[in-house]
Amino acid sequence: MEQLEQLYEGKAKKLYATDDPDILWVEYMDQATAGNGAKKAQIAGKASLNNRITAVIFDLLKARGVDSHFVAPLSDTEQLVRRMTMFPLEIIMRNTAAGSFAKRYGVDEGTELKRPILEFCVKNDDLGDPFINDDGIVALGLASPEQLDEISRQARAVNDALLDIFSAIGVRLVDFKIEEGVTSDGRVLLADEITPDTCRLWRVESDGTVEHLDKDLFRRDMGDIIPAYEEILERLEQLAADE
Ligand code: C5P
Repeated sequence: MEQLEQLYEGKAKKLYATDDPDILWVEYMDQATAGNGAKKAQIAGKASLNNRITAVIFDLLKARGVDSHFVAPLSDTEQLVRRMTMFPLEIIMRNTAAGSFAKRYGVDEGTELKRPILEFCVKNDDLGDPFINDDGIVALGLASPEQLDEISRQARAVNDALLDIFSAIGVRLVDFKIEEGVTSDGRVLLADEITPDTCRLWRVESDGTVEHLDKDLFRRDMGDIIPAYEEILERLEQLAADE
């Protein structure tokens, strides 16, 4: 596979074309951002950890019947994925109140939700990724009603599978964000990444103390992300080896 021109540079990844029109080359970067890019840092080792974590998670999801754009690992910081047309949506699932949800509704972070919540935001940095509901998505033509049903079904299936995966490694899956797109043959499919950058992962001690194993360490200046991400990777790789 040959790497061709760069197509896109995001906050944490670069995307390149390849000699196969259906395959893209993803390069993870050591950059961390928070607050819509307001806070930015280079964190050595993050690219490799996230590239490897998302690969093992996509493999574990596949074993649970959830397909994704992931094709194959390439190097420590690179992987091949299917080329897709992305929905301009951040698809968020929540199992426990935290972050913007806890703040918006004035509930304590850590409050268990009686059922998972599926939320959508429009992916638009200039607008600060505003919240949108199902009617808004269809009314603005961001997805068709059929596509939205499929996105919602897949988001719930990803949540069920991730809850199973993270409980197997002793970590609470508080919430996460995914992105979806459409393949060249019209199939709605999970894309982007699933990493501690895009999930809240807590280890809850018996006395209720929460240890954060995700990007909130960086967002909230609570400590170094690298040891936390290393622990998540090690545990996921062990789970994958045991399965
Ligand atoms: O900030 P908020 O509580 O809305 O985040 C919900 C979940 O979505 C968190 O797991 C967070 O890491 C993820 N997220 C993300 N990218 C964003 C916004 C949220 O990965 N731009």
